[in-house]
Amino acid sequence: MTENGIMHSERALTLDTMNPNVKRVEYAVRGPIVQRAAQIEKELKEGVKKPFTEVIRANIGDCHAMGQRPITFLRQVVALCTLPELLEDNKFPEDAKSRARRILEACGGGSIGSYSMSQGIEVIRQDVARYIERRDGIPSNPDNIFLSSGASDAITTMLKLLVSGEGATRTGVMISIPQYPLYSATLADLGAVQINYYLDEGNCWSLDIAELRRSVTEARKHCVPRAICVINPGNPTGQVQSRQCIEDVIRFAAEENLFLMADEVYQDNIYAEGCKFNSFKKVLFEMGPKYSEKVELASFMSTSKCYMGECGFRGGYMEVINLDPEVKAQLIKMVSVRLCPPVTGQALLDIVMNPPQDGEPSYPNYKKERAAVLAALADKAKMAEEIFNKVPGIHCNPVQGAMYAFPRIELPQKAIEAAKEKGQAADMFYCMALLEEKGICLVPGSGFGQREGTFHFRMTILPPTEKLKIVVEKVKEFHLDFTKRYS
Ligand SMILES: Cc1ncc(COP(=O)(O)O)c(C=O)c1O
Repeated sequence: MTENGIMHSERALTLDTMNPNVKRVEYAVRGPIVQRAAQIEKELKEGVKKPFTEVIRANIGDCHAMGQRPITFLRQVVALCTLPELLEDNKFPEDAKSRARRILEACGGGSIGSYSMSQGIEVIRQDVARYIERRDGIPSNPDNIFLSSGASDAITTMLKLLVSGEGATRTGVMISIPQYPLYSATLADLGAVQINYYLDEGNCWSLDIAELRRSVTEARKHCVPRAICVINPGNPTGQVQSRQCIEDVIRFAAEENLFLMADEVYQDNIYAEGCKFNSFKKVLFEMGPKYSEKVELASFMSTSKCYMGECGFRGGYMEVINLDPEVKAQLIKMVSVRLCPPVTGQALLDIVMNPPQDGEPSYPNYKKERAAVLAALADKAKMAEEIFNKVPGIHCNPVQGAMYAFPRIELPQKAIEAAKEKGQAADMFYCMALLEEKGICLVPGSGFGQREGTFHFRMTILPPTEKLKIVVEKVKEFHLDFTKRYS
C-alpha cells in the first residue's frame, strides 16, 4: 500500500508497462555523478567534513551558472520587452529601445506574453535570415527558418520527422562518437537505430571519410541509414572541422542519400590559430548546384552558447534547405502542436541576430563585452590543454573551439578491474573518486561514447580562470595519486 492507498500492483503505469524507449534513454551530463555532487553539497552545508570546502562543477556547458556575466545589451532589450514602461526610462539607450519596440510591434497585442506564430515571429525570422546572409554570403529565406526552444527542441523535432520503418527497415541515424548525448538519448526515445562513426582522436578529432563509409556500410545490413549528424565545433571534443572535412561530409551525404544535420551552436567559439568556422550551408552552396540543389540540410543555432551563454532563455533556430515541401508542411504541423517557442527566447535570439552596429550608442560596450567573454574562453582553452598535457597519463587534444576539454586518461589495469567489480565504467569510477576526494565534478567519457578500451573525461572551460586553474591542478594531483594507488 502507498501513501495514496493504491496497491503497487493496481498502478496502470509501472516500470513494466511504461514506454520501454524511455527506459533506454541515458543522459550523462546530468547523470549519477551530478546527483552525487548535489548530495555532497548538501552534506557540506550540514557540516560534514570533507577534504574540500566546495564542489566545483565543470560538468555542464551552463555559462552563467559558472559565473559568466550576461551581455548588457541583450538584457536591456529583453527588459524593455518585458516591462514596456521602461521605454520611457532615460537609463536605456535608444538602440535598445528601437529594437524592443520593433519586437513588441510584432507580438500579439504588443505583449511578449502572447503566443507567437508556431514557426516563430516573422520579423525575427527575417533577422535570422539576414544574419545567415551576412555570415555566409548566401541568400537565406525566412520561410526556411524555424525558431525553437533552444537547439535541443529543433534537433529532436527533426529527428522525429526522420524516423520510420520496422526491423531492418528502421531509420538509422549516424552520429559521431564521442557525441553530445542529446543525440543518443533522442534516438533511444524514438526507437531509431544509432549508427556510430568514430572521430579521429589522433588527428584532433577530425572526421574521416573512410570511417564514415565503414560505419554506413555496416549499418545497411540491419537498418536504413537516413541521416548524418555533425557537431561543429565539437562537443565534447572541442575540435573545429576544416573546410575540407565539411566538403567530404557533404559529398558523402550526397552519395549515400543522407539528410544532413549540422549542429553549429558553438559557431562563435573558435579559439585556435588557423581555425575558422565554416557553416555547412556556406560550404554546400560554394560546392555548386550539383550539391546545393540536392543535399537536404538542417542547421541549428542557439542562444545558449557562443558569447551569450543565455541557456535559460531557451532561444534557438533551425534553417532547412532542400526540404521536401510536403515534409515542410508536416514540420509546420508538428511545431504547431506545441504552440510556439518561448517568446522571451525569441526576443533574445533577435538581438543576437541583430546586435548593435558601429555608430549606434551601445556598440562600443557590446563589442567590448563580447570580445572579453570570447578572449577569456580562448585563454582558458589554452591553459587547460597545456596543464593537462604536462601530466603523465593525460593526453589532451587542442581545445580549438566550443567549451570543453576532452582528455584521454590512461588507467591502471587494477583500477579497471576495481571498476568492473562495482559494475561501473572505468572512467565513471575515476570521476566518482575525483568527486569524493577533491570535490571536482566532471563527466566520464563513457557518457559520450569512446573507442573501446580508451577512457576520457569532459571538463568545461567555463569556470572563472582562477577556479579553472584550481580544477585543473586538482585533477592533476588526483590523477597522479589515483595512478599510484592502483599500480
Ligand atoms: C552540441 C550541442 N547541441 C545542442 C545543445 C543544446 O543546447 P540548447 O538546447 O540549450 O540550445 C548543446 C548544449 O550543450 C550542445 O552542446
